[in-house]
Amino acid sequence: MKQWKVLVSRRIPQEGLDLLAEACELTMHQEDRPMTRSELLAAAAGKDGVLCLLTDKINAELFDAAPTVRAYANFAVGYDNMDVAEASRRRIPLSNTPDVLTDATADMAWALLFATARRVVESDAVMRSGSWAGWGPLQFIGGDITGATLGIVGAGRIGAAMTARSNGFRMRVLYTDARRNEQLEQSTGAVFVSFDELLRQSDYISVHVPLLPETRHLFNEAAFARMKPTACLINTARGPVIDEAALVRALRDKTIAGAGLDVYEHEPAMSEGLAALPNVVLTPHTASATHASRNGMARKAATNLLAMLRGERAPDCLNPEIYPG
Ligand code: DGY
Repeated sequence: MKQWKVLVSRRIPQEGLDLLAEACELTMHQEDRPMTRSELLAAAAGKDGVLCLLTDKINAELFDAAPTVRAYANFAVGYDNMDVAEASRRRIPLSNTPDVLTDATADMAWALLFATARRVVESDAVMRSGSWAGWGPLQFIGGDITGATLGIVGAGRIGAAMTARSNGFRMRVLYTDARRNEQLEQSTGAVFVSFDELLRQSDYISVHVPLLPETRHLFNEAAFARMKPTACLINTARGPVIDEAALVRALRDKTIAGAGLDVYEHEPAMSEGLAALPNVVLTPHTASATHASRNGMARKAATNLLAMLRGERAPDCLNPEIYPG
């Protein structure tokens, strides 16, 4: 006899499903696309728990539609899709999946940095088109990485992992955050600066802040104007941290040299003109898409959900304030 009814809003790696299946009767959305809002509201009704994705809005409307659900486990470290305050008001526990995707995400930020600086995608397109006529001294000249200044915006787990990887390239690392990360400073030599200083001095800027009211459009026209015209911006965090229409203008007008983006302001759509620009490298929100990382996320989300269904505090609880003491 299975103890709990659980909705999984899209297929996740089998390891997570196997963990849940031991104790739960699972309903899983079978199509390889996010559930529509009405599908989610209907499918969550009558369940005890939901394993949800960053594409699902977890908010008052859903809590009202599915009053029996007493736990939501996000299959993501970012949780801007969840109304934590409203869940806490209703004493509904929430969880996310930190740590298991830190390395994969930092690796992808570096992949985008390399590809953008060294114009890998543009070069690849020329080779495939058959139009390359042979080696030339002025072809595809890009930015230097070794010895350059790397600016890290947000020095949490992923920002720190990005910083650590810069060591082999003898880079100077500047970082900015709401608070100082002294451990990062000691272990990597990264220097804490204001956002303004980071914009002015960095050759590459990598974004690692969560999406919050105060980080929405942190990178806007004014920020691009303060960056070096040779600088590249890398974003593996959340799309709305960048004003994407302003980025298109900055890339088109060469206010900055390039951008490498894994996330978009209005996913899955992209702002008009972005895809046509040669100086941007675009990936489809796949920074955590490695075997180890996605399997880890599946295990974590399932483990968190099972703990919450048992009435325990999830290992990755997002709203511990709902528990007494
Ligand atoms: C996250 O976990 O927040 C990523 O955006 C997807 O893995």
